[in-house]
Amino acid sequence: MDYIYNPITIRLAVPADAPDMAQVHMRSWEAAYNDIVPAEYIREKNAGRPALWQRIISSENTAHYIIQRDRQTVGIMTIVPTPQDGDADCETCELEGIYLHPDYYRMGIGTQAMDFAFDTARRWGKTVMTLWVFAENTNAIEFYEKCGFKSDGKTKTYNMGKTMNCIRMKRALEEEPM
Ligand SMILES: CC(C)(COP(=O)(O)OP(=O)(O)OC[C@H]1O[C@@H](n2cnc3c(N)ncnc32)[C@H](O)[C@@H]1OP(=O)(O)O)[C@@H](O)C(=O)NCCC(=O)NCCS
Repeated sequence: MDYIYNPITIRLAVPADAPDMAQVHMRSWEAAYNDIVPAEYIREKNAGRPALWQRIISSENTAHYIIQRDRQTVGIMTIVPTPQDGDADCETCELEGIYLHPDYYRMGIGTQAMDFAFDTARRWGKTVMTLWVFAENTNAIEFYEKCGFKSDGKTKTYNMGKTMNCIRMKRALEEEPM
């Protein structure tokens, strides 16, 4: 219930947001993937985050959002209208990522951010949202299930110093009741 008294704001990121986005991304990987992804891989990826976000966030950004509370950036989220998956149709969009700073986990912020993502996708005329998640990230899977996603049976793997299995999850974007 904390969030009712501390509303969040979500907006498209601008270049000046890049350092905060890198911080959130790095801290969230360290906390959430500690027991899942090899530490050396997390260190290597995190070393490149500041430059990566500086490069990604141009003034034409239309996909990367920042989630703020009390003017602090507490999360990042990426929604794309066209998934890279070969089997995606034009009605489908993808949540490419959502990462909160660990100090803000489990306060309802992720749920509010997902509602924002669903509304954004509906405005684009999309009827389905997909996402990929590490099979070992059971916390996130539980969160996504609570948000209405279900595994659709598709899988893929990445080599991150160990083989990481990912599952795809899917959710229909029915109209919000009036
Ligand atoms: C996953 C994440 C975005 C969820 O956002 P959040 O604000 O923490 O989640 P909420 O507080 O809105 O949780 C809503 C519900 O989801 C489920 N849930 C959320 N986090 C959970 C966790 N760590 N373990 C189990 N269930 C969880 C619970 O059912 C929760 O309801 P409850 O708190 O009333 O029990 C956030 O925790 C996060 O950034 N995690 C680390 C990064 C990550 O794994 N991102 C996904 C990559 S694919």
